[in-house]
Amino acid sequence: MNYHEIAAAAAFLAARTGIERHDAAVVLGSGLGEYASSMPDSITIPYEDVPGFPIPRIAGHGGTLVSAPIGDKSLLILAGRVHAYEGWDMSDIVFGVRTAVTAGARRVLLTNAAGGVNDAYTPGDLVIISDHINLTGLNPLVGPNDDRLGPRFPDMTSTYTAGLRWDLATVFNDVGIPTHEGTYAWFLGPTYETPAEVRMARTLGADLVGMSTVPEAIAAAHMGAEVAAISLVTNLAAGIASTPLSHEEVTATAASARSKFTDVLNRFLPLLVTD
Ligand code: HPA
Repeated sequence: MNYHEIAAAAAFLAARTGIERHDAAVVLGSGLGEYASSMPDSITIPYEDVPGFPIPRIAGHGGTLVSAPIGDKSLLILAGRVHAYEGWDMSDIVFGVRTAVTAGARRVLLTNAAGGVNDAYTPGDLVIISDHINLTGLNPLVGPNDDRLGPRFPDMTSTYTAGLRWDLATVFNDVGIPTHEGTYAWFLGPTYETPAEVRMARTLGADLVGMSTVPEAIAAAHMGAEVAAISLVTNLAAGIASTPLSHEEVTATAASARSKFTDVLNRFLPLLVTD
């Protein structure tokens, strides 16, 4: 993890936007990136322009940074992420989040598309992530620790902080959607899970399965940022329904849930940027 590369990217953002400190950051997951273009008065920066930023390679994931004002605060939106299954190094996967936190973000909202393991979930549901299980054997903190970023052995007890979960639950309630909360199990992918893996994940206590978010949550927590995370359940996890899974199903469900997702973000982001 190169502290100077992260600091350089954060300094570039401050210079390009003219905003010394961004108060919070959002990472938009599969099929959810369009939200970024809805923000008024925003400044858009392609990832290619930011020194050190990894460029997403897969369709539907975008790759745009948006700096958007909310009241007298500033939000950074990262539309598009890179994944471990694409072969990226862990340091690349967390580069965006580390840059955002270095740029001032004390709170980070991570969003993703996920498979639903909990029987109470229906495709199209949004779920507040309350905790995670890392099933990949990967961790962005492996290697020498840079004490300027955070401690060698970070506590993970309250990664998804109670305050932000409460705020999200309040927003879900106001929008009129069920206030599901759940534990997200990180699988490496790019294969979807086998039915046996989904049964294992359920037995271990997972409510959701997916291929992202956890490394970014770890990196943000390492740096002392508060994390909130939302999964959009795009499909029932493998073996729960009898139909095969497909990326098309994932993106189609994400598209159909867009207005609900937009409602939630429109109400939650002002809370995220406020101290
Ligand atoms: N598994 C893993 N990742 C996913 C899924 C799934 O079922 N759906 C969307 N992303």
